[in-house]
Amino acid sequence: MRDGSSFFITTPIFYVNDVPHIGHAYTEVAADVLARWHRQSGDDTWLLTGTDEHGQKILRTATANGTTPKEWADKLVAEAWQPLLETVDIANDDFIRTTDPRHEENVQKFLQRLYDAGHIYAGEYEALYCVGCEEFKPSSETLDGTGEYEGQKVCAIHSKPLELLQEKNYFFRMSDFADRLLALYESRPEFVQPESVRNEVVSFVRQGLSDLSISRSSFDWGIKVPWDESHVVYVWFDALLNYITAIGYGQDEAEFDRRWPGTHIVGKDIVRFHAVIWPAMLMAAGLEVPEAVFGHGWLLVGGEKMSKSKLTGIAPTQITDTFGSDAFRYYFMRAINFGQDGSFSWEDLAARYQAELANGFGNLASRVIAMVTKYFDGVVPAAGEPGAAKRAVQKVVADAATHADAAIDSFAVHDALAAIWRIVDELNGYITAQEPWVLAKDEASRERLGTVLYTAAEGLRALAVLLSPVIPVATTKLWAALGAEEALGALQAQPLREAGRWGQLPPGTRVSALAALFPRIENVSE
Ligand code: ME8
Ligand code: MG
Repeated sequence: MRDGSSFFITTPIFYVNDVPHIGHAYTEVAADVLARWHRQSGDDTWLLTGTDEHGQKILRTATANGTTPKEWADKLVAEAWQPLLETVDIANDDFIRTTDPRHEENVQKFLQRLYDAGHIYAGEYEALYCVGCEEFKPSSETLDGTGEYEGQKVCAIHSKPLELLQEKNYFFRMSDFADRLLALYESRPEFVQPESVRNEVVSFVRQGLSDLSISRSSFDWGIKVPWDESHVVYVWFDALLNYITAIGYGQDEAEFDRRWPGTHIVGKDIVRFHAVIWPAMLMAAGLEVPEAVFGHGWLLVGGEKMSKSKLTGIAPTQITDTFGSDAFRYYFMRAINFGQDGSFSWEDLAARYQAELANGFGNLASRVIAMVTKYFDGVVPAAGEPGAAKRAVQKVVADAATHADAAIDSFAVHDALAAIWRIVDELNGYITAQEPWVLAKDEASRERLGTVLYTAAEGLRALAVLLSPVIPVATTKLWAALGAEEALGALQAQPLREAGRWGQLPPGTRVSALAALFPRIENVSE
């Protein structure tokens, strides 16, 4: 990607029927890491997240809690969904709620446009509906209920009974777009990622598409259909439009042109909405389809998707209260291949925290700063002649930076981190091999000692920049302790795609004390 190009990235907007669990935090972190990486590379970046507040699921939850859906949504947004962003340190540029007037008004404009162009008609419908998914279910996605649901059809995802809905609805002529969608997947293989998800989407569309019911008249918690106010817009049709109403669709042409098309990060559970329905809607409106849709894997509990409705959710604060937001971000980005499912385990988290963050990276940073303080009065020394070992370090740094940037471009966040960690391992190995504490005992090896510590400090400079999108808190502390703030400016202003260029930290920079970046945690147990 070229510097300066537009990078608009989104998370799903989450249902406010309940509080977030670590699955939602996972999506937020992944999108935020990608956004921070691009932002710090000089791309014109915009990270959008928000909440999905209409539909039957929210209406029923509010009713069950003795309140109105809007009051329920206000409470959940203020007390749970916005705080989530602080819990895991998300630097979003906007937060959209589907109850925002900017959204509701422009959804109506979009719908009217499709109606006027003949893409919508009135029809009759009878089918099984899952309120958990807010989706009609074909028989291939239903199961026979057992136990209390014996004799009923249940949703394969939510394991809850489906409801037979019989209504007069408005329909979107989605079937008209099957061929254009297939041509899109064909001509732009990167449109749906990863490959496994793409294959699933392609084979789904190859079977042919039905038209989509896009309105409901049996309840009124939603956006009114502009030409028939006895109907509200189907919650998914409403929700998908957040990606354009948030950036000025129908309201601010210039902003819309600047941002769109965007890149959508979603869980694989909702890829079909994003890679089939959504581009068909955009095609019908004569708008560009998204840049890409990436469907990541699920966090599993006992082999099943962690979920709000099954009460298997772990609250993000259960992790961050003990380990901190950086460790949360690092762990999920490193331990799970982005695109695949993963199981969370406290043991694995604690082990990686100790081995990789505390011993691998944190200790390295403290030792280097401490040695510069002790042997050079806190002033980063100049490097002498480049020896073979120092050249090896330089090459590892340069290669890791290049590799990481390429990995981020293909959404392989785990790969980017693995590449960056080669620098951590290289520097630790370099220090062990060079034994600066031995060099310090002999005045004759003073220049050599300077080279070793310059190399280590400059390696830390590169690490701080490369890791700042993932662990912003620790790297900001390290940046300050390295004295780099004064010498080079703010960490977040360091161009990421230049991070691997050697020799940026000027000799003469003054370091300062660094408290343990990842302190030891006692009694890790759940
Ligand atoms: O589907 N593992 O909202 P939602 C990983 N409102 N990610 C998970 C997860 C898990 N176990 N559980 C949830 C909706 N997620 C709609 C979206 S977008 C226009 C409308 C994450 O609250 C993942 O990103 O059910 C998944 O796609 C999303 O939460 C579903 O959130
Ligand atoms: Mg869901």
